[in-house]
Formats: sequence, structure tokens, C-alpha cells
Amino acid sequence: MNRLPSRPAALSSPALLPCALLSALLLSPPASALALDAKIKAAARQEFRKSAQRPCLAAQPCFKVRNNYPKLAKPETVPWRDIDYRTEPERYLRAVLAYIGAGNTAVDWQLQKNRKRDWYHAAWMHPVREPVHGLTFERGSRLHELSAAQTRRTNNWAIGFYNRQGATAFAKVWRERSQPDTAAFAFPEGTVSAKLLLTDATDEEAPYLAGNNLAWQADIRGNGQPVTLRLLQVDVAVKNAPRDGLNGWVFGTFYFDGRGGHADYWDNLVPAGLEWGTSPTFTRADFAAGQRPAQGWVNPVAEALFATRAPDGKLGYLGRMNGPVDDPRSSCLACHSRAMDMQGASDPPLFPPFAASRIRPVSVAPNQTYEAVLSAEPVDEAQVAFFFRNLAPGESFDGSHPTLDYSLQLAKGVELWRAWLDKRLAGSGPQPLAPEALAAPAGGGRGN
Ligand code: HEC
Repeated sequence: MNRLPSRPAALSSPALLPCALLSALLLSPPASALALDAKIKAAARQEFRKSAQRPCLAAQPCFKVRNNYPKLAKPETVPWRDIDYRTEPERYLRAVLAYIGAGNTAVDWQLQKNRKRDWYHAAWMHPVREPVHGLTFERGSRLHELSAAQTRRTNNWAIGFYNRQGATAFAKVWRERSQPDTAAFAFPEGTVSAKLLLTDATDEEAPYLAGNNLAWQADIRGNGQPVTLRLLQVDVAVKNAPRDGLNGWVFGTFYFDGRGGHADYWDNLVPAGLEWGTSPTFTRADFAAGQRPAQGWVNPVAEALFATRAPDGKLGYLGRMNGPVDDPRSSCLACHSRAMDMQGASDPPLFPPFAASRIRPVSVAPNQTYEAVLSAEPVDEAQVAFFFRNLAPGESFDGSHPTLDYSLQLAKGVELWRAWLDKRLAGSGPQPLAPEALAAPAGGGRGN
């Protein structure tokens, strides 16, 4: 961040001082350095094994977390190895999608039953998972984000997975299951992560969902009366070798379009786009001049389908890549670069502040908002750029907290573990979360 001409005011907490020694003194100790007594350790290990906080429902599937992470990866030749994501993004994405679906669609995403490949869940998300499919609450879709006919804020819930390579990094963090060790964290090359996002939007609100046969019951209200959710978006993340000064992470997304007419829902997924960098130097003036961010690809078909999204008809900030359910002030890589072990401090802001980006949320009805651009006002590009950096391997977003290498689920798990521990140490014992608490943003990150 020393590269920046000015540091955003909202971020200049003492913990951001460049002096590593001083910040180390100000922070609470790293999790792995805490001395826990045997009783707390035993309780923490028991928590680690939990799949969800609330009980399973009769006559519904019962989500089982898979977090017996392997220490070693298996050698593997990935089908996209020879596809260049910059020149053939769509082909690359389809190869990744086929890899993720293999063995998983046939067993309805019960990872333990996949005979083709090993996949794992992120640990310690049970306090915010519903019990039927292990889903966590995501950002709701705002006015017109899904289509011109959508006026209600719809609910989105999701579940993510990591392949075996990615799981080896979780094995290191959770080697001691009672206490995560996030020091010098990095995923190995070949890590793949995926996330299914489901919505309660109707065919009227999102006409392309018609005929969608990935419909899951989920206890999203926490009252034992499940609601039907359907697949809307599939997110993927692949860690490649660093290239041309970029860290190698490639994030891509798909949306469901039943008009594809395929019997298998997986074949009705359409690539929305892919991002291999955050296009850090791209400004509002460039956008106004009709240019588009260089370090990504957005499918024009998707852009046309979601053109009713405020503030400017684009999926991500100034035409950067993002998914239909994501916040238009961000992009995949930008938001994920914020993944850190916050060690009890609050998360960094999700977006540049309004005063810098000149994008303002507008309330139109109870619980309904959209974003508006104040185009006449000058944008503070230096402050905005802080949120759209391409981090070097091992670099931390705020320069002082340990990086979690773009994994917001790992960050969430570590944060929930710490919250549990704090309560436990304060003597109040483990408290089951109230149903309302489930409806808080799972990521502490994506915004609700
Ligand atoms: C504004 C923030 C934000 C944006 C933008 C965002 N995500 Fe995420 N993402 C999150 C949070 C928070 C989580 C973890 C919590 C969860 O899974 O609910 C997450 C989880 C994931 C996961 C599971 C593994 C992990 O890294 O935690 C994948 C894969 C993923 N996102 C991909 C994407 C893709 C692809 C895009 C763009 C299309 C995207 N995300 C955009 C916040 C964001």
C-alpha cells in the first residue's frame, strides 16, 4: 500500500502502520499462539466436527460436513491445462465446470459419495449453516438485479467446496483442530474452489430460471419449515502459476439459463465471465470513454441479460467481472483479495466509500435499494484503487493481518472459531445462534 499516493481515511487504523513490529504489538496474538486448556481444546475439537448448529429435519437430507482434510495432494492433469484463459475464457470455464460437476451432480453434492474426485467443505462454518444442505446466507438480490420484473429483495444461499489440492492447505491451518494456524498461508497451484448459489426468486422475477431442476429444500428461516431454492449462479476459482506479474488466481462465474433446454441442469449453465486481474488502473474516465477493464472477460450475452442492474447496467464495478448476485461496486478478485485472519479486528470495508467512488445506495421501498452514480462529482481514483489491487503472492490486503490467499470461507471459519473461543473464555459457554442470526451475512463479507 505504500504505492498509494494517499491512504483511505477509513483504513488508516493503527494496525495499518507499515512498521510490522508495532502492529504485532497492537494485535491480539495469532490463534496458534494462544494457550488453551485441555477442556477448551476438547470442546473446540468437538465443535470442529459439527455440520450445522441446528438439528436436521425429518424427511429431508441431513448435511454432513466433509473436513477430514488430506495432507497430500494427488498428481493430476487438469483438463484446462493447455487452454489460455485470456484468449479462450469460455472454453477454459467450461473445462473447469465439467471438472467440478464430475461425480458431484450424480450424488446431489454429497461430497462424501463422490467416486470421481475428492472435495471438501470449509471448516467451522457450522454456526451459520442451515442443516438440510449446509447453505449459508448470501447477499440478497436488489431491485432489478435479476430482471426488470424483480422488485422484491430475493434471498440467496450458497455452499462452497475445495478440491483435494485446496484441502491440503486447510489441513495445515487445522492440523491442530482446536486451534487454527494461519501463519504464512497459501494455497498450492492446482487448487480449485466452487460455490453453488441458490435463490428463492420465482420464474416471474428471473425468467431464465424456468425449468430449473436443481431445486433444494432448505431451512433458511430456521423454523423447521423448509423453503425451495433453485440454482442461480455457480462461482469457480482456480489457482494457476503466477503469470505476467499477476498472482495466478482466476475467478469465473456461470448463471443458470433454462432456455438452453438441456435435461441436466449442469448443462444449462452459461459462463458470465472470468477475471484474472482487477484492472487496477482502470478509471471512471476510461469507462465513460467506452473502454472496458483489460484483465477480465465478460460474456456479452450475460451483460445484456443483466443490463437492468444499477448503477450502470454492468455486473461489476465499471464493467469488471462479477456475478448476478454480487455487489456491482466490486469484482470477484477485488472482494476476495480482502481474505485475512483479522485476529478479532473488524473486516476491512467491502467497497470504496461513497465519498471516493461517488456511488450511492438509494432506498426505494422497505428493504429495497439500488445504486446510483453521481457522475458530475469527481472520483477519488487513488482511494478506489486501494480496493482493486492485484496482490502479490503472500501479500496481505491491509499489510498487517495474515493473508488467507483469497479464501473468504477460510476467513469466515477462523473468525467464527475465534468468536466461539472468546465467548467460551468469557465464561458464557457455547451459545447456539438464534434463527435470526443465521440471516446475517455469512461472509461477514459479501454484504446481505
Ligand atoms: C463483495 C464480496 C464478494 C464478491 C464480489 C464475490 N465474493 Fe465470493 N465470496 C464472498 C464471501 C464473503 C465468501 C465466503 C462466505 C460464503 O461462502 O458464504 C465467498 C465465497 C466464495 C467461494 C468459496 C471459496 C472461498 O473463496 O471462500 C468462491 C469459489 C467464490 N466466492 C467465488 C466468487 C466469484 C467467482 C465471484 C465473482 C463472480 C465472487 N466470489 C464475488 C464474497 C464475495
